[in-house]
Amino acid sequence: MKKPPFDAAPGVEPARVPFGAADVPVAEKAGRVRAVFDSVAGRYDLMNDLMSGGLHRLWKAAAVDWLRPRPEARIVDVAGGTADVALRIARAVGGGDALAAAGGGLTVIDINPSMMAVGRARVAAAGLAGAIGFACADAEALPLADASVDAYVIAFGLRNVTRPERALEEAHRVLAPGGRYLCLEFSHPRLPLIGPVYDRYSNHVLPWLGDKVAGDAASYRYLAESIRRFPDQPHLASMMATAGFERIRVRDLAGGIAALHSAWVI
Ligand SMILES: C[S@@+](CC[C@H](N)C(=O)[O-])C[C@H]1O[C@@H](n2cnc3c(N)ncnc32)[C@H](O)[C@@H]1O
Repeated sequence: MKKPPFDAAPGVEPARVPFGAADVPVAEKAGRVRAVFDSVAGRYDLMNDLMSGGLHRLWKAAAVDWLRPRPEARIVDVAGGTADVALRIARAVGGGDALAAAGGGLTVIDINPSMMAVGRARVAAAGLAGAIGFACADAEALPLADASVDAYVIAFGLRNVTRPERALEEAHRVLAPGGRYLCLEFSHPRLPLIGPVYDRYSNHVLPWLGDKVAGDAASYRYLAESIRRFPDQPHLASMMATAGFERIRVRDLAGGIAALHSAWVI
C-alpha cells in the first residue's frame, strides 16, 4: 500500500518531509519552497490562468462564496502570496470603504516577500492599499494572539508548508470561538476518468508550460509532485479533526482535482 504522506506517529517529529517527489530534512523545506516562489513570483498569476485554463478563478470564487465574509470580521489570508484571494474577499464585502467602516481587518500573511511584493502592487492598483494589510510570517508560527481571528483562509498554501499539522494547530489557536477555517487546495480526483488524464497533464504539460512561460520547469514539476503527495480529502479532514476543528465539511471542485475543506472552532 502507498505510504501516506505527511504522516508521523502522534507527537513524533518527522526527520524528513516531502518536497515534491523527494523527502528532505525538515530544516531544508522552507528554503526550497521559498526558492520556488521567488522564482515564479513575477509570473505566478499568469501561470495560474494558463495552467488551470482559468479554473482557479472559479475555485477561488467558490471559496469566497462559501466563506461568506463579513466586513466587520477579522480575516487572514494565510499563504496569501499575490493577494488574489484577499482581493476577492475585499470585493465580496463591498470594497475598501466597507472594510474601513466596519473596522474588522483583512491581512495577507505569507512567508515569501517576493510574492507579497506582487500582492502589494496589485492591492495598490486596485485602490485597496488601506484596506488589506500584509505580514511576513510562517503559517506554523503566526504573529497573532490566541482567538484573535474570525476567519482563516488558506488557498494552495497548506501543501507548501513544512509541517501542515502545525499550521492546522496554529490556525485553530488563532481562531476565536465561532471562527471559520477554509482551505482551498489541490486534491485527489475521485471521478474515475479524470485521474489518468490529469496525471498526464500534470507530469508533462505543467513543467512544459512552466519552462515556456516562467522559464522554470523545475518549480512546476515540484507543483505536480507536491500535489500527488498531499493528503487526500478524508486524510486532510482527519488532520483537521486532530487539530481540534469541528463541523468539518469537504467540497470537491472539478471532480476532486481541487477541494475545499471547511471547519469551525467551537
Ligand atoms: C501556490 S501559492 C498560493 C498563493 C495564493 N494563496 C493563491 O491562491 O494565489 C503558495 C504560497 O504559500 C506561501 N508559503 C509557502 N510556505 C509557507 C509557510 N510556511 N507559511 C506561509 N506561507 C507559505 C508561498 O510563499 C506562496 O506565496
